Amino acid sequence: MASIIGTWRMSYDSVAEAYRRLCGGESAMNAVEYAVAEVEKNPAFTSVGYGGLPARDGQVYLDAGWMDGNTLRCGAVLSVRHISSPVKAARLLCGRAKNWMLCGEGAEAFAIAAGIPVMDMRTDNSVHRWRERLADEISAAGAYDGHDTVCVIAKDDEGHLIVGTSTSGLFMKEPGRVGDTPIAGSGFYADAEAGAAAATGLGEDIMRGCLSYETVARMRAGDNVQHAVETALQTYMMRRDRMGEETENISLIAMDAAGNVGAATSMESFPFAAGTPDGMFLYEAVYRHGQLTIGRRHPEDIPLGS
Ligand code: GLY
Repeated sequence: MASIIGTWRMSYDSVAEAYRRLCGGESAMNAVEYAVAEVEKNPAFTSVGYGGLPARDGQVYLDAGWMDGNTLRCGAVLSVRHISSPVKAARLLCGRAKNWMLCGEGAEAFAIAAGIPVMDMRTDNSVHRWRERLADEISAAGAYDGHDTVCVIAKDDEGHLIVGTSTSGLFMKEPGRVGDTPIAGSGFYADAEAGAAAATGLGEDIMRGCLSYETVARMRAGDNVQHAVETALQTYMMRRDRMGEETENISLIAMDAAGNVGAATSMESFPFAAGTPDGMFLYEAVYRHGQLTIGRRHPEDIPLGS
């Protein structure tokens, strides 16, 4: 069965359109690229792509990842400033046996050679936010500030399982900082024989738990998708708790090899979009007092930027 799942309210419209296309016979690759690239090009979504959250130097540095669950091949771009669609570049790199993870200028040269348009990814708004934050003199160390990765997983009727991710990363990050989003196993993982998962939240914490791989490993061991994603996150949160570390900002989406979907979060509100044979819906995962609940929400009831 064709299925798709994407992080946050911001992905709902493009995931819904991608689901229509998947049901019409479109490939999972094209559905994932479409859903992520639509978010990347919309400057109203300030944590991804064009107009993303600036780093400490005022530049917008973008990361993206891609994995094909049928071949276990990956592509990724790190810390790129001018690639109009980082996820397209990551998709094109996927398939290479070597040199599939490129950063900075090398990634931009690849994108130009591949015909992906390059442009200044800053907007007046991103420059304005940077200037305001500088004026506030808030330290970069505390600047989580709601940065959110768009992650989309899709499976088509041919059984292809694909995951794509894209983000501008942490607001006021140090230039050169890279989070989980382009890192296989942390920000994303897909194995068509087991399932796929992707993460959003504070990359430094997600990477220490390799949470996407952990979720897929649990499905491979026989867990159902919701149990796998929930226990992957809960086990990590409990481990962190034993070290005296709180977990505030991690959310995961997952899909099993049959196209069933699941999600988990450490946050009070994590909206996500999913299209399955049950229909296309916006959901909200809520983690409160140690309990995770997931319910359907009307898209108009959840702010577009969340
Ligand atoms: N999860 C995105 C980042 O930390 O960069």
